Amino acid sequence: MSPAPVVLVTGAARRLGREIALALAAGGWRVAVHYRSSQEDAIKTVADCTSLAGAAAHFCCDLEDETAVHSLLPQVIGHFGQVDAVVNNASTFEHDGAASFSFAALEKHMRSNAGAAIVLAQALHAHVLARLAASAVAEQTGRFAVVNLLDQKLWNQNPDFFSYTLSKAALEAANTMLAIALAPQVRVVGVAPGLTLTSHLLSEEKFEALHKLSPLGRSSNPADVAATVKFALENASMTGTTLLVDGGQHLMKFERDFSLM
Ligand SMILES: NC(=O)c1ccc[n+]([C@@H]2O[C@H](COP(=O)([O-])OP(=O)(O)OC[C@H]3O[C@@H](n4cnc5c(N)ncnc54)[C@H](OP(=O)(O)O)[C@@H]3O)[C@@H](O)[C@H]2O)c1
Repeated sequence: MSPAPVVLVTGAARRLGREIALALAAGGWRVAVHYRSSQEDAIKTVADCTSLAGAAAHFCCDLEDETAVHSLLPQVIGHFGQVDAVVNNASTFEHDGAASFSFAALEKHMRSNAGAAIVLAQALHAHVLARLAASAVAEQTGRFAVVNLLDQKLWNQNPDFFSYTLSKAALEAANTMLAIALAPQVRVVGVAPGLTLTSHLLSEEKFEALHKLSPLGRSSNPADVAATVKFALENASMTGTTLLVDGGQHLMKFERDFSLM
């Protein structure tokens, strides 16, 4: 029997990344839990994944640091012996607008949200090619995949979080280009949540009210997003597309970002 597949989930210590890691562990995946500063939370996510799947481990990396990003997948391979999928979930989300935009803000968001995700996809593809060349794995179209977490904001744009939005737009374009470039060995799928979790910028009451603002009367919850990521990883015929999981928020026009409404 072949060993359980291994997935690297970036930013998996807390919030949506943790939910995705747990859903995949419950589905039998071994999970590499990436974090940057939330070490205690990462250790807890690993313990909870291990109790579900039998194997998980945590890996620290600052995704703004290109050298560190290049060393991340080899560390995961060193630990588990293989990687089958990457979920690019970690994200910098800092406010700027048209008036406060700067090269520095753009670069920070681009490095962690687009550059790191592309380098991890590139590294997964190289690893899969090496395994196929060594006949360490059977040709099995659709088995290897990258999922990129995007944002319904891309289909419903406003100028808040200007650099964040540009970085996610770059990742959405990369989603298409990588799907072409990495085929047939690796599939690439986007998952775009709507307003799913609140932040320090929103009170619970305000979040509840905004969450209801969509054609379906509800946006996504963490379980919806995690289930969609799992579906994208396991559906062997899907590549070069994005699944919007947002209660239809992308069909509406919002003048401001939710957190500033
Ligand atoms: N939450 C929502 O409602 C929502 C809506 C639409 C789209 N999304 C997308 O869904 C994904 C998850 O959302 P979230 O709200 O759970 O994310 P988040 O809490 O804002 O960030 C997730 C993790 O990203 C990690 N991270 C940030 N910068 C990093 C860097 N330079 N290097 C390494 N790690 C870094 C942080 O890890 P540490 O804590 O370890 O530092 C953080 O815990 C994101 O891609 C986001 O754009 C979320």
